[in-house]
Amino acid sequence: MSRIFVTGGSGRLGRSVVAGLAAKGHQVISVDRDAVPADQLPAGVVQETADLLAPGEALRLLQETTPDAVIHLAAIAVPFSAPEDVIFATNTRLAYTVISAATELGVGRIVTASSPTVLGYGSPAGWLPAGFPVDERTTPRPWNAYALSKLIAEQTQQMFAAAQGDRIRYAAFRPCYVISPEEWEGAPTQQGHTVAERLADPGLSAPALFNYVDARDVADFLDLLLQKMPSIPNGETFFVGAADALATAPLAELMPKFLPGSDALSAGLTGTSPAFSIAKARQLLGWEPRRSWRTELKSTTTHETSAALVTAGTGSKEPQ
Ligand SMILES: NC(=O)c1ccc[n+]([C@@H]2O[C@H](COP(=O)([O-])OP(=O)(O)OC[C@H]3O[C@@H](n4cnc5c(N)ncnc54)[C@H](O)[C@@H]3O)[C@@H](O)[C@H]2O)c1
Repeated sequence: MSRIFVTGGSGRLGRSVVAGLAAKGHQVISVDRDAVPADQLPAGVVQETADLLAPGEALRLLQETTPDAVIHLAAIAVPFSAPEDVIFATNTRLAYTVISAATELGVGRIVTASSPTVLGYGSPAGWLPAGFPVDERTTPRPWNAYALSKLIAEQTQQMFAAAQGDRIRYAAFRPCYVISPEEWEGAPTQQGHTVAERLADPGLSAPALFNYVDARDVADFLDLLLQKMPSIPNGETFFVGAADALATAPLAELMPKFLPGSDALSAGLTGTSPAFSIAKARQLLGWEPRRSWRTELKSTTTHETSAALVTAGTGSKEPQ
């Protein structure tokens, strides 16, 4: 059992992470600017409401709560949802502030949320990887402030790892498009449409290369990561995605329609194969995602989706 300080614990992903870690028996301290209503807070979770960018706040809260692990999720999480300079300054300062405060206090394990967008897909100037599936060795080429801020968050934890050695363990993870339990039930996802709509119109999922992950699988990943951090290389980054693609057709067929020039690169993405490899998390941590849209979408919604698929258009509406 660990004592885990989760920043951004009231957010879309944070709520599932807090609930998942608490259910595994950890003591969780959830820190966010926004509070979760008390009746929705899992039993035993301590909630702290604070602006982590206010001078001294991160250090004060860490000192008071004495965690042995930190999971840093707090950020502006949607590209272009604020002016570019605000996203850049907010996310990079949050990462630096939380990681440096936790390091100063000697917290043993520090995990930071990054994003697959660091790779640079969706660039208006065009983007193609060296090959599919992409993995942690794929060269990041961020093209907006959000993606750049996440790459800097990864590099921030690597900088501290380089300075501290193995005294403190650091890691970063890139969760694919997060789908929370209520979103399987029909609540709007991060981009404003439902999961069923995203499946029915490949143009909605194509900008993120059809990636996704269940928020509870991310919680399981983080639980395992915290357990294994003392015995894996320090400062690693992991993709965290579902085992399949958020698509009803093979990506070998879909990808060339939305990513010009990707025919040969995506030819191996047959069946349900996703565009993002999770082999590293499988091999280093033994993690396996347990949920898929095929198991989680409400059966009624799946029927609607099937019907919608017949008539759906394919235009992209997503800013990411
Ligand atoms: N949702 C996704 O699909 C996705 C994909 C890749 C990466 N991520 C990353 O995962 C993390 C969580 O994403 P999310 O979807 O839950 O986002 P979210 O916007 O739902 O949650 C972020 C939380 O951070 C809090 N926060 C922001 N600034 C703060 C501050 N100064 N002090 C205290 N709290 C602050 C917000 O109040 C919010 O509750 C983010 O770092 C995001 O970049 C999310």
